[in-house]
This record gives sequence, structure tokens and C-alpha cells, in this order.
Amino acid sequence: MAGKITFSIIKPDAYQAGHVGAIIKMIEEAGFRIVAAKLTRLTPERAGQFYAVHKERPFYRDLCNYMSSGPILAMILEKENAVADFRKLIGATDPAKAEPGTIRKLFAKSIEANAIHGSDSDENAVIESAFFFSALEQF
Ligand code: CMP
Repeated sequence: MAGKITFSIIKPDAYQAGHVGAIIKMIEEAGFRIVAAKLTRLTPERAGQFYAVHKERPFYRDLCNYMSSGPILAMILEKENAVADFRKLIGATDPAKAEPGTIRKLFAKSIEANAIHGSDSDENAVIESAFFFSALEQF
């Protein structure tokens, strides 16, 4: 699967604003296939584990609180060149810097509440997918 999957989260701001359907439409129209999906909610502790790589960053605590503030939709997405193509589709972390037509440009509220997550490497796509889904849930 390496190279063919990426992991994504539709974040609390986008879920709360009712953008899930529009975002999934863009993902599917860009050629991604949803191979696993879970509507769930993180505790601040579990959000902290997911974002452990950012532990030393000044925004870490706020990020954990924000990511646990409401429901999220975790997904594994399949496509050739999935990681790079998905990052192109979602746009820059800061929506102010995101290209027109990207998911973050269209739906993100701020650099923190930026609508959607996408893995930054094939290795992290596998690690992040395993954080939310057991092998049995992936196909
Ligand atoms: P994501 O792609 O999920 O990876 C890390 C997250 O941290 C990022 O999206 C944003 O939600 C958040 N983030 C990154 N940089 C900043 C920042 N400078 N200030 C606040 N939040 C940030």
C-alpha cells in the first residue's frame, strides 16, 4: 500500500460548519477512493498523542484542545501518488497562503482550524492510519 495511501482528518471546524459533504465530493472528484472512514472524537490526551511530533511547538496545547473540541472524520484514502497529490488538493497549512480552489482556501477558518489534515509522507500515512484503524478495518 505504501505510496498508494494517505491519511486524512476532516477537522472539528469543517465538521461543525457542515462542510463534510462538499469536502468528500472534492476528494472523490480528485480521484481518491475512501478505503476506511470513521466519525469519531478525540480526547485532548489522544489528540496530544497524534500530534506528539509538535509537542515543543507553542501552538501544541491549543491544537490538542481544538482537535478534541468536536467530532472529526478520519479517513484512509487510496490513489497513485496519494500523499503528494492530496497535499496539493488541500493546500498550504495557512489558508491565507493556500492556492485558490484548494480545500483549505475554500473551507479553513485559520492556520489552526484549517479544515483538514493530510499526511506529509508515506511513512506517516501508515503510522497515522494505524492510529485510527485496525488492520481489519482497512481494505
Ligand atoms: P496539520 O496539517 O493537521 O498538522 C499540524 C497542525 O497544527 C496543522 O495542521 C494546524 O492545524 C496546526 N498548526 C500548524 N501551524 C500552526 C501555527 N503556526 N499556529 C497554530 N496552529 C498551527
